[in-house]
Amino acid sequence: MRTSAFAAVSLVLTALSCPVTSSAPSLGDLAVQKVLADASPIFGYYEKDTSPTAEWMSKYPDSTLIVHMNIPGAHDPQTWNYSLATQESLNHVTDLDDNPPLPPQVYRCQEKSFIDMLNAGVRVFDIRYAYDVTNSTLVFWHSQALLSETATVDDVLFGFYQWLDDHKTEALFLSFQYEGSTTLHGTNDAGVQMSLFNMLTSPAAKKYFLQTKGEFGTLGQAPALPGCHFSPSQWIDNDPNITLVYNLATNATAYIEDYYSINLGLGTSAAENIAAKYDAVTAHLNMAATQYPNSLFWSFASSENDVNVPIDTPEIMAVGNGTDLTPLGGVNQQLVPFFQGMTGKRLGIVMFDYFDVPSNLIDAFLAVSRP
Ligand SMILES: *[C@@H]1O[C@H](CO)[C@@H](O)[C@H](O)[C@H]1NC(C)=O
Ligand SMILES: *[C@@H]1O[C@H](CO)[C@@H](O)[C@H](O)[C@H]1NC(C)=O
Ligand SMILES: *[C@@H]1O[C@H](CO)[C@@H](O)[C@H](O)[C@H]1NC(C)=O
Ligand SMILES: *[C@@H]1O[C@H](CO)[C@@H](O)[C@H](O)[C@H]1NC(C)=O
Ligand SMILES: *[C@@H]1O[C@H](CO)[C@@H](O)[C@H](O)[C@H]1NC(C)=O
Repeated sequence: MRTSAFAAVSLVLTALSCPVTSSAPSLGDLAVQKVLADASPIFGYYEKDTSPTAEWMSKYPDSTLIVHMNIPGAHDPQTWNYSLATQESLNHVTDLDDNPPLPPQVYRCQEKSFIDMLNAGVRVFDIRYAYDVTNSTLVFWHSQALLSETATVDDVLFGFYQWLDDHKTEALFLSFQYEGSTTLHGTNDAGVQMSLFNMLTSPAAKKYFLQTKGEFGTLGQAPALPGCHFSPSQWIDNDPNITLVYNLATNATAYIEDYYSINLGLGTSAAENIAAKYDAVTAHLNMAATQYPNSLFWSFASSENDVNVPIDTPEIMAVGNGTDLTPLGGVNQQLVPFFQGMTGKRLGIVMFDYFDVPSNLIDAFLAVSRP
């Protein structure tokens, strides 16, 4: 018995020695390459890029207040590669649950990788995480959909660190939202909190995350920012006009539009649901342009309608379905002329689904307040 067990294992013995040539990459470089390879299912394949969109913040002085800026973000960015093939490749893990995921288009909100987002100008990332099935590692989920079993949240942070090293003029904002109520592994709250705390206070994180609390400072201060707590008890679910005090000492306030579940009702057209979302996001952007100039504005252009059969997916809501069903396109196409009419205005942070469609969306948004 023992011999056959041993026969199944192949033993590989190799010798380790120091590299001879000094031009060989350092162990540190090799370690980063390894972590970035682990991160690639979520981060994508790292590429250096110095195009204008990759360094758009370089045009703004360090003294610019973050709350005065217009900053594009990606809603649920980690879903970018969640095709049927990806879902099926993770079935061996999600089959361990009695809460299997729905079809992939229900969850999918993007089609470009994190590195593509960064290089295209996206600076706010809506990170959704929970434990893996063994309750030991933070990985990416969108509700029941596991998005990778190998790319941990910490691995992906190293992609951001590398990118910040390569783009010293840029600042990033990461929103960490625990998918606590929707995954089967979202029940271990204390453990998850400790894992997140350890991750964000690791030596690498301390080097890159600004260690402040409860304030959005200036662009020059912000390499990346963990420090503002948006209380779930104040963040009213599915609300188009949230007022949230994120610092009780200073009364620092955020105005948030997070009307994501449009659901006008069974049998309503995709075009009607898109129009309702467009109205909510533009009402909030008009408020950002005219009121509370020193408060944070955070608007979500992203949405879904899961009451209709078939559902209006996040993709249809954002970009239409390319037919007469959505003659004006989705929310994104309709936002382009809206942005073109807002020159010089403060709009704040705007989170997009399918940020790359239409291809001039991010440029039209950044052009609103380009110095
Ligand atoms: C995206 O998903 C496909 C299908 O699952 C997979 O073959 C590909 O490697 C994924 N891309 C990355 C960057 O991981
Ligand atoms: C993970 O944690 C949950 C909640 O504490 C528990 O019900 C489940 O059995 C754990 N799973 C494993 C594999 O330890
Ligand atoms: C949104 O809330 C703010 C603050 O309470 C208020 O001033 C504004 O009128 C509201 N906007 C709408 C459209 O209800
Ligand atoms: C914050 O607002 C509360 C309620 O309006 C007020 O009592 C308090 O004095 C304010 N604090 C500061 C620092 O402005
Ligand atoms: C668009 O929606 C219509 C109506 O549901 C459907 O018949 C058509 O196949 C869809 N087209 C695409 C490209 O998704």
